Amino acid sequence: MNILVIGSGGREHALIWKIAQSSRVKKIFCAPGNPGMAKLTTCVPIAVDRLDELLAFAKRERIDLVLVGPEVPLTLGIADLFEREKIPLFGPKKAGAQLEGSKAFTKDFLRRHHIPTAHYETFSDFDRAVEFLHTQAYPIVLKADGLAAGKGVLICQDRAEAVAGLDAMLRQKVFGEAGRQVVIEEFLQGLEVSFHALVDGHSILPLDSSQDHKRVGEGDTGLNTGGMGAYSPVPFFTPELEAQVMREILLPTVKGLQQEGIDFKGVLYAGLMLTREGPKLLEYNVRFGDPETEVLMVRMENDLVDLMEATVSGKLKEHTIRWKTGGAVTVVMAANGYPGTITKGDVIEGLERADSVVEAVVFHAGTLAQDGKIVTNGGRVLAVTAQGKDLRQARERAYDVVEKIHWRGMHYRRDIGLKGIGQRT
Ligand code: AMP
Ligand code: GLY
Repeated sequence: MNILVIGSGGREHALIWKIAQSSRVKKIFCAPGNPGMAKLTTCVPIAVDRLDELLAFAKRERIDLVLVGPEVPLTLGIADLFEREKIPLFGPKKAGAQLEGSKAFTKDFLRRHHIPTAHYETFSDFDRAVEFLHTQAYPIVLKADGLAAGKGVLICQDRAEAVAGLDAMLRQKVFGEAGRQVVIEEFLQGLEVSFHALVDGHSILPLDSSQDHKRVGEGDTGLNTGGMGAYSPVPFFTPELEAQVMREILLPTVKGLQQEGIDFKGVLYAGLMLTREGPKLLEYNVRFGDPETEVLMVRMENDLVDLMEATVSGKLKEHTIRWKTGGAVTVVMAANGYPGTITKGDVIEGLERADSVVEAVVFHAGTLAQDGKIVTNGGRVLAVTAQGKDLRQARERAYDVVEKIHWRGMHYRRDIGLKGIGQRT
């Protein structure tokens, strides 16, 4: 089979690393890819939103299966386009991608199908939104309706902050069209868990649990990022909780999609908050999480190509997923300045030494090959990932490798996975 993966981050590197282990694969292409994956795949310089160029490439290279990493091509309708051309693609069509592309759509969908989530109202009018704030408790959460590259969520401690946030979104349009509508919702307290499930239109096949670390600083402090590290499995996400999430959240979602005529094929990634009243859905994503995918891929025993094919052809029922026991940890190494303005072009030292360690994999995210060297080229630069007999060993292995790598101004969190071994709450 010839496979095309779309995207260029640590998630895509991890997916390609896994796909490359399949005996069924002849050639893997990645658009646009990154230098870390270049040994496993042919990188083709097509941006993820150039749908027509991606289609032309897929036809020319006789691609048998396409895997879409990021959300943008999905919300632009890449699955609709490839379906018309009869090229199998893993990922939902535009209608299903609304679950990530529009927070207002998702909240209304959850309400229609009685799925537990934070109480909310949606506004496009500034004065009405401000009036609504009078009746609310704090902190409170503001969410730009559309895609805002992970920056569209504001947690406001008091009314003044909330008014300023509404002003920025609805009047100054800092998120452009994505902020034309704003969801105002109740602040939920609890532990967060990432729960992924393959969905083939009918059946749901859950993946093992994982947890992201969204803040830039240790102890969950500082600004929000795309994710500074992850681990899997999450020990406090018990089988009972998983069953409850399947019953109260995933099953009603897939049923609801069917009832509304939305054919969803791909992966649903539920961002969950485990509250005192039970698990609630914070948000849906319609693609794999990053950096969660890195830990899931090093733990998965199945052939990923089989699972992707079963998802696309509606045959997930025939499959179960097997996981390596123990745990996995990924530590994101970020560029100078991240998540603010970053420095690009810093030379990364120690990659060869790091790559020679068999217990860990260095997935590339924001890197570039320049004059025979690998340099930084994005906020999240590397995702150093290790598996172990337990989370403790996986952590040690990952950090041993992190310490072999260096560049100017690099930074990473030293506490990734501590919640999983009970050393943090
Ligand atoms: P997102 O950018 O949509 O991934 O959301 C970013 C983060 O905001 C989430 O991972 C949560 O930590 C936080 N968040 C979102 N909604 C709520 C909520 N209703 N209550 C508390 N925290 C929230
Ligand atoms: N790990 C966060 C995300 O992929 O959205």
